Amino acid sequence: NMTRKVIIDCDPGIDDAVALCMALFDTRINVAAVTAVAGNVPADQSSRNVQAIIERIDPPRYPRLGAASDPELSPGSNASYMHGEDGLGNAGIVVSRLHHQHPSEKIICDEVRSDPNRVTLLCLGPLTNVARAFQRDPELPTLIDRIVMMGGCVNGMGNVTPAAEWNMHYDPDSARLVFRSPVAKTLVPLDVTRAIHFTMGFLDELPSEETRVGAFLRKILQFRYLAYHQRLGQESIHLHDAVALLAVLQPDHFAFEEMAGDVETRGELTAGATIFDRRRNRQWRPNMEVAMTVDAEAVERDIVQCLSHAGRANG
Ligand code: BDR
Ligand code: CA
Repeated sequence: NMTRKVIIDCDPGIDDAVALCMALFDTRINVAAVTAVAGNVPADQSSRNVQAIIERIDPPRYPRLGAASDPELSPGSNASYMHGEDGLGNAGIVVSRLHHQHPSEKIICDEVRSDPNRVTLLCLGPLTNVARAFQRDPELPTLIDRIVMMGGCVNGMGNVTPAAEWNMHYDPDSARLVFRSPVAKTLVPLDVTRAIHFTMGFLDELPSEETRVGAFLRKILQFRYLAYHQRLGQESIHLHDAVALLAVLQPDHFAFEEMAGDVETRGELTAGATIFDRRRNRQWRPNMEVAMTVDAEAVERDIVQCLSHAGRANG
C-alpha cells in the first residue's frame, strides 16, 4: 500500500474541522490517527470535538483517536471569539459519549514506532503533544518522515498578538523544542495561509446540504463568516489549517525555502513570535523548509474539490 500514512494533531477549531473533512476522505493519504491538543479550546473540549467531528462525518476508515491534556503553563489566551465557545461555531455539535482514549502523545509515539520513517505528522494546533512525544521517546524525531506544521509568520505580522501566531503563542516552549529537534520540518506560516480568501461564494461550492460533510460544514462555517465580519471587518474568511493540509497533498502549489527558524519563548511583546535568521551572513543553521509563496487559486480550487469528493463519498 503506497498511500502515505498521516497523523493529524489538531485543536478543532473551525479550520481544523474543515481540514479533517478533507483529509478523512482523501484517497492520497491514510489518516491513521487524529490526536487532540489544547489550543482553540481547552483539552477536554478538543478531545470531544475530534470525536464529534468524526462521528458526524462518518469516514470510510476510522482513525485512532488521542486525548489532549492541558499544557503545564496555561497560556490564558482564548480563541472563542474566532471559533465559538465550543470551538465549532456554537453549532451544537456534541458527542453522545466520550470513548476512552489514550493520551495523544502516546498515540503519536506508537504510530511512528510501528511504521518507522513512513509517517507524516500534520500539526494544526499548538505543538504540545509533539514536544511531549519527543521527550517521551528521544529517538522519535529521526523516525518521522516529516512534520508539517501550520504556524508562525515570516513577515512578523501575527494574529493573536501583533507579533505572534496563535499556535506558536499558545505553547512557545513546545514549539521551540520541536523547532530545535532533528526532525524534517515544513512550516506553513500565516503569510501563505492568509493569501487564500474564501468569500461567501464558498458556501455555494460546498457539497450539498444532504451530505453529512455539506451539512456539517454549513453549520460551523456560519460563525466564522460572522466573526471575521464583526472582528476584522472582513467579508471573506481564512482556513489556515486546510491550507496546511494542502501542503501535504499538493506541495507543488507552494514555493519553499530552507530557513533557520526559532521561537521566542519569553518576550514581553513577542512571546510566541517566530524568528528567522535571514541575514546575508546567516549564523543559524537552516532547520526547516518554510512555505514562502503559494498558488492561491490552485489551493482554493483543490480545497473545494477535496470537499466535493468528501461529500460524494458519504452522500
Ligand atoms: C491557527 O490558530 C488556530 O486558531 C487555527 O485553527 C489555526 O490552526 C491560525 O493561527
Ligand atoms: Ca488549529
